[in-house]
Amino acid sequence: MCPPDAATRNPGTRHREFTSQGWLFVGNETQHPIGIFDSGVGGLTVTRAVMELLPHERIVYFGDTARVPYGVKSPGTISRYASEIVRFLLEKDVKLLIVACNTMAAVALPAITALSPVPVLEVIDAGAKSALAATRTGRIGIIATPSTVHSGAYPAAIARRGGDAALTVSRACPLFVPLAEEGFLDHPATRLIAREYLAPVLAENPDTLILGCTHYPLLRPLLQDVAGPGVTLVDSATAVAADAARVLAETGLLTAPDEARPAHAFFVTDAPDRLRGIGELFLGRPLPDVHLVSLGC
Ligand code: DGL
Repeated sequence: MCPPDAATRNPGTRHREFTSQGWLFVGNETQHPIGIFDSGVGGLTVTRAVMELLPHERIVYFGDTARVPYGVKSPGTISRYASEIVRFLLEKDVKLLIVACNTMAAVALPAITALSPVPVLEVIDAGAKSALAATRTGRIGIIATPSTVHSGAYPAAIARRGGDAALTVSRACPLFVPLAEEGFLDHPATRLIAREYLAPVLAENPDTLILGCTHYPLLRPLLQDVAGPGVTLVDSATAVAADAARVLAETGLLTAPDEARPAHAFFVTDAPDRLRGIGELFLGRPLPDVHLVSLGC
């Protein structure tokens, strides 16, 4: 059965009560998890940064591994898939949503925010901010999925952040996502494809290259090798984790430090063992709680 929409579910989710001690959040929302989602394993790059900066927070991760890649699908389909994931995570009583997928952030943000009664953070604005902080020459390369590149979301975010004098060049790199999902993180085939994809971008002499897909930081050592030492690679993970810390502090929703390690949970729509494998490698910790679920209402 489909869950009801945001207007009717959990009417008390954002409820505070004024008491003799001031405002109290009813239902102990500080203990609620942060929901982080992507089409597959890419969002783990954001998850790692959130775990490092906010070690006491509980995370519920969702990777739609049955339907990845999203970056070659139409905006309507991506918005529908994103809405299904958001409904699933809201049922887990998340206190904050992080769209750890540039593709969904580029084309499905209105659908996501319309459904969500909790704050929503996304990776594109965070990536644009990091690139503007890193560039010295104002020449910025962007590599991303076809949907993200065609949406123009990165140049728009850079301009919004005051970088309208920056020169931006983009290239869609659709094959990187399946290579990362396969765990081909340092494979000759990946290197060959990276040389091909990056050549026209590097010919424009960027000093900064935005990894505009959360899968790409998994390939970071290889991409840095191909781009050369003169190019600074930036991704959104650290910046979006900092945004999460700020928003939780501002809304009084930071989890208090506790002795126990938070029990994170991971949900996928296919092949839990693959997420477990890459997750252990990438997050440097075992992932016992990877659950297989199906979506679609
Ligand atoms: N990792 C996602 C992104 O940041 C999506 C990749 C895909 O599914 O194509 O764009």
